Amino acid sequence: MSNEIRLDERVAIVTGAGAGLGRSHARLLAARGAKVVVNDLGGQVDGRGASRAAADNVVAEIRAGGGEAVPNYDTVATPEGAQSILKTALDAYGTVDIVVNNAGILLFKRLMDHTPDDFAKNLGVHLSGSYYLSTAAFPVMKEKRYGRFVFTSSSGGMRGSADGVAYGAAKAGVVGLANVMALAGAPYGVYSNVILPNAYTRMTEQAVEERNREKLSADFISPLVLYLCSERCRLNHEMFAVGGGTVSRTILALAPGWRADSKEEFTAESIHAHLEEIMDMTNYSNPQTTQEETRLVVGRRRK
Ligand code: NAI
Repeated sequence: MSNEIRLDERVAIVTGAGAGLGRSHARLLAARGAKVVVNDLGGQVDGRGASRAAADNVVAEIRAGGGEAVPNYDTVATPEGAQSILKTALDAYGTVDIVVNNAGILLFKRLMDHTPDDFAKNLGVHLSGSYYLSTAAFPVMKEKRYGRFVFTSSSGGMRGSADGVAYGAAKAGVVGLANVMALAGAPYGVYSNVILPNAYTRMTEQAVEERNREKLSADFISPLVLYLCSERCRLNHEMFAVGGGTVSRTILALAPGWRADSKEEFTAESIHAHLEEIMDMTNYSNPQTTQEETRLVVGRRRK
């Protein structure tokens, strides 16, 4: 029996699938048997403009390879757009099993050059877009007790990069959303995981040196997405840095920390005095819910 991971009879929506990583994901999912909604607004890297050609070209590529796909040209950044993307899947294929939230934009601006409008625009595509589509698709998956979400965050949000204020805030928000979707979906077999990709695309053209471009091909991202979208994958509520052939689990670690013996002892000065203990990550934990973290932090026994 073949060990190949297949997505036959599965219906996948990939947002921003007209270029870069999304195109690569859509092509691989289709090659493994999924029926794919290729969503793309077809704008520029900073989100300006729109064109049907991006989604159409990828659909043509998939069909030429014998796969099944339909285009969708709506923006993810409005509730109506997200509903329409879902409708494309339901009209064409009757259901949805997989949503890859991938659409994204990047503004090349210094920190203080960002306007409130830039900030809102970034949140609109990355965070609101992921929210609108995921919550639209969730009831369908919940009903069938099966689903896979992949959320695309970034080290730009989880670690930060100076100047990437709107992008970073939006991408960190995506992780918060994915955490909630993972917990809400778990009882129904609807799993959500996050990727933090590193790849050469038009978005990273200025950042990736020519000699590293081949090494940072999107081909080193999409296999992880395929895995996370598959029935074989039982992971939920996880986050992976991925790129150049490496996949690394990433967690938000909680140190054992220092606990004051009394309210009187809990002062700024004693915090400074115990900094070594506070900063020591030995024996860290990885709480999965807010309740678990509260238990670990507040419920810690005094020594
Ligand atoms: P890309 O610019 O090649 O592709 C993004 C696609 O999203 C484009 O085809 C664009 O038209 C589409 N899009 C933008 N706004 C949209 C909207 N409102 N509705 C529907 N489609 C829309 O960039 P790339 O690199 O492929 O990015 C894919 C995702 O990966 C993005 O979310 C990006 O932020 C994220 N990412 C990429 C990294 C990299 O190293 N390339 C690093 C970290 C995160």
